[in-house]
Amino acid sequence: MKPPPPVTSTLGISSRLTLGVNIPSLVQAIGFKNSALPHLTMGWTPEFANRAANGDLTVGIIGLGYVGLPTAIGFHDSGFNVWGVDISQRTVDMVKRGENPTGDPDVNDIIPAPGSERWNITTSTSEAVPHCDVVLVTVPTPVTEDLKPDLTYVQSAGRAVFDSLVRGSRTIVVLESTVYPGVTAQTWLPELEEIGLQIGVDVEIAYCPERFNPGDPAHGVRQVARVIGCSNPDVGAGLVGLYSRLTSEDVRYVGKLEVAEAAKVIENVQRDINIALVNELARIFPELDVDVEDVLSAAATKWNFHRYTPGVGVGGHCIPVDPYYMMQRAADVGVPAELITAARAVNRTMPIHVAGVLNELLYKAGVPAGEGKVLLLGWSYKAEVGDPRETPAEPLTEALHSKDIAVAAYDPHLNAEDFPEGVEVVTDIDSAEGYDMAVLVTAHKACQEIDWAGLASRMRNPILYDGRRVLDLNSLENSGWQVHAVGRP
Ligand SMILES: NC(=O)c1ccc[n+]([C@@H]2O[C@H](COP(=O)([O-])OP(=O)(O)OC[C@H]3O[C@@H](n4cnc5c(N)ncnc54)[C@H](O)[C@@H]3O)[C@@H](O)[C@H]2O)c1
Repeated sequence: MKPPPPVTSTLGISSRLTLGVNIPSLVQAIGFKNSALPHLTMGWTPEFANRAANGDLTVGIIGLGYVGLPTAIGFHDSGFNVWGVDISQRTVDMVKRGENPTGDPDVNDIIPAPGSERWNITTSTSEAVPHCDVVLVTVPTPVTEDLKPDLTYVQSAGRAVFDSLVRGSRTIVVLESTVYPGVTAQTWLPELEEIGLQIGVDVEIAYCPERFNPGDPAHGVRQVARVIGCSNPDVGAGLVGLYSRLTSEDVRYVGKLEVAEAAKVIENVQRDINIALVNELARIFPELDVDVEDVLSAAATKWNFHRYTPGVGVGGHCIPVDPYYMMQRAADVGVPAELITAARAVNRTMPIHVAGVLNELLYKAGVPAGEGKVLLLGWSYKAEVGDPRETPAEPLTEALHSKDIAVAAYDPHLNAEDFPEGVEVVTDIDSAEGYDMAVLVTAHKACQEIDWAGLASRMRNPILYDGRRVLDLNSLENSGWQVHAVGRP
């Protein structure tokens, strides 16, 4: 289908030419209603790709979290005019001061200084959107208590953007949050219809999932391949031009929205399934008196064996969440997602399995019931990142508490308020003492490189459990530890 002819901007100028004058505020001050604001940029036109190549576009980012903030910085560094929006006043205040509100250390030193040109940060979507040719939505997509997709952020952020759009602007709104196939259209089209905005006249919508890996500088937002879904191939091609300025890797238009949505969700489903397989093997092999790591090392000598490492559980905002989005969509169309569901069950119960193993080790060491004290080394879900979301440390702690085992935790990447109630927070590992067992939960460097001999000497029982299979267990045994590990007999 041929897209309708482009609608040129009311003013026909780029906001880069506004010479510091805040035109939406000015126009509002002289009495325009928001919907009557002149669009300060051009939105989609056939010149979009050329303008992208020249950095001559204004990019809005809604949600300045782990994904949105480095994305905003990346576009700013590429020469674009950027408007960053977050509903959290604390986040906006910190970003404006050049401080990092996220736990991703890779962002620490790259936030533009206060007063930098082309860098506008606000809590107001309606202030930002009229300036923007393109608006990227990077808000959370969690699951509810009963493990169903929670799309309220996508819906309300989309609504706020659409309410702020200028009719006829053809502003491109791109969802980047992780969703199941169908969400962008199912969630946003009814909002557009309610407001009376038309695709191809007032607005264009697209989907481009973020795939970066926080805490991994080799796979930051500027180093990952991107895929773009959009029902209008010309807009899709224009966005390829835009994102090619952000990342050094491949950027592809992949067809309709649902293809790009599904690509993202199955990437994380695949990781969940692969990790679930090694976690299941880590439960089976110790019962056969075989160390799963020996098995994996042997199997990995074959050219096509993909090695994954077992652990105390899977955490974070993506892998333990996204499969539920796929399961929901499969259920909607009446196809059981049996493998995905089973993998989720294995990974979800891994911390409970490990708690059972730890309880048994304490029992065998003669620690009286109700008196066990376990020290967790690392709390955040992933090494070198200060992010406690969906960490397996939490269900592990709940399971230990349910067995009357006290839990302390040491994680130099987190603040005291990141830990739940009932956990003793250890800030100085060199004075930690009196525990019956140390459990490596997160493979932070700071947790692997502690004074192991010193800690062993201060333990009530020097039992060590490597929940990530990263420690040199032989040398730790020599420094006085009784060593155990996930998947080890
Ligand atoms: N964190 C990751 O590693 C990662 C990687 C790839 C994809 N994703 C996906 O990206 C999306 C965002 O994840 P995140 O980790 O950046 O989340 P986050 O919680 O770190 O950040 C989201 C931000 O959006 C803000 N926000 C919420 N509603 C808003 C609204 N209506 N207007 C403006 N701001 C709003 C929040 O205050 C928060 O600062 C999720 O769908 C996630 O699954 C995350």
